[in-house]
Amino acid sequence: MIQPPQPGDRIGRYRVDSLVKAGGMASIYRGTEVVSGSTVAIKIPRPELEADTLFFDRFHREAAIGRKLDHPGVVKVLPAEDDPRVCMVMEWVEGRPLRNLLDEQRRLSPERARRIALRICDALGYIHGHGVAHRDLKPDNIMVDDQDRIKLIDFGVAREVGARRLTFAKLTKSMGTPDYISPEQVKGKRGDARSDLYAMGVIFYEMLTGEVPFRSPNPLVAMNQRLIFRRPPASEVEGEIPPPYREIIRRALEREPGRRYPSARHFAHDLEHPEEVEASCSPSAAAETRPPAAAPKLTLAYLALALIPVAIFALLLIVASHQQ
Ligand SMILES: Nc1ncnc2c1ncn2[C@@H]1O[C@H](COP(=O)(O)OP(=O)(O)O)[C@@H](O)[C@H]1O
Ligand SMILES: [Mg+2]
Repeated sequence: MIQPPQPGDRIGRYRVDSLVKAGGMASIYRGTEVVSGSTVAIKIPRPELEADTLFFDRFHREAAIGRKLDHPGVVKVLPAEDDPRVCMVMEWVEGRPLRNLLDEQRRLSPERARRIALRICDALGYIHGHGVAHRDLKPDNIMVDDQDRIKLIDFGVAREVGARRLTFAKLTKSMGTPDYISPEQVKGKRGDARSDLYAMGVIFYEMLTGEVPFRSPNPLVAMNQRLIFRRPPASEVEGEIPPPYREIIRRALEREPGRRYPSARHFAHDLEHPEEVEASCSPSAAAETRPPAAAPKLTLAYLALALIPVAIFALLLIVASHQQ
């Protein structure tokens, strides 16, 4: 079995300097391109996964997708190294994950949240235009520098339109939090550009309020809620959100993908022109955040039905975590 690299080890043109993050599936090292002296990030799968061909498919796909993308808002993947060790070398991204920023600040000013959201939309517009959906967009996978410039990282479950479907167990294995998963992904669909826009809506809400829209001590309940309700339940933290932004979030978080923004560019347009955003929801729309006023028995039946995909999802999560 190949041992994890040690500081000073060489991988092709690169020298390994230090471990940045020991991950579940892969670890990230900081390294140096020895000729130019430039700093790089090196992602190396865990040695135990060597024999896992599906994992390597995914890993190679992540690298291949990364190599064809070239945008300031997307991490650059450098050419493959002729080295027996399987690895992916990327440009070194300054800054820190948006997750750290939010943990530290809890919430951001509306102007700052808007600025960051616009930059994420710009990067999403680019990758979607190149036929790539990220599918695991969350604050851990967005790096922010001290100028609030962003870079999307971790295309581990990204998918190119028309590519072979990932097995569900593989997908769930790599998911840490269900907070940003779209309703269609909860139902077991693979997720696409609109799922990224849903995640973007969750992130914008969180940047403005310090909370995610669907929250519960039990993640299964939080996942189920987004199947039952057309939009997030009303919450007192919404008072923190300027009304046009509330409307933008409402459009991004529609349960049906077809009712969401059709593209990242449409999302960005509303962020750029909040004064043009009109609340399309009637005063009674708030009522729609509650389940339909059906007979109690019928409501229970709906609940039970809605719970089935969530239960399957939970089961797969458990099975996947046991396989690790
Ligand atoms: N290119 C990079 N430059 C600098 N740091 C990076 C880079 N890629 C990843 N990291 C760091 O490693 C962490 C995990 O990377 P990620 O690609 O999200 O892997 P994982 O599969 O473990 O989620 C990130 O949160 C970030 O702190
Ligand atoms: Mg990640």
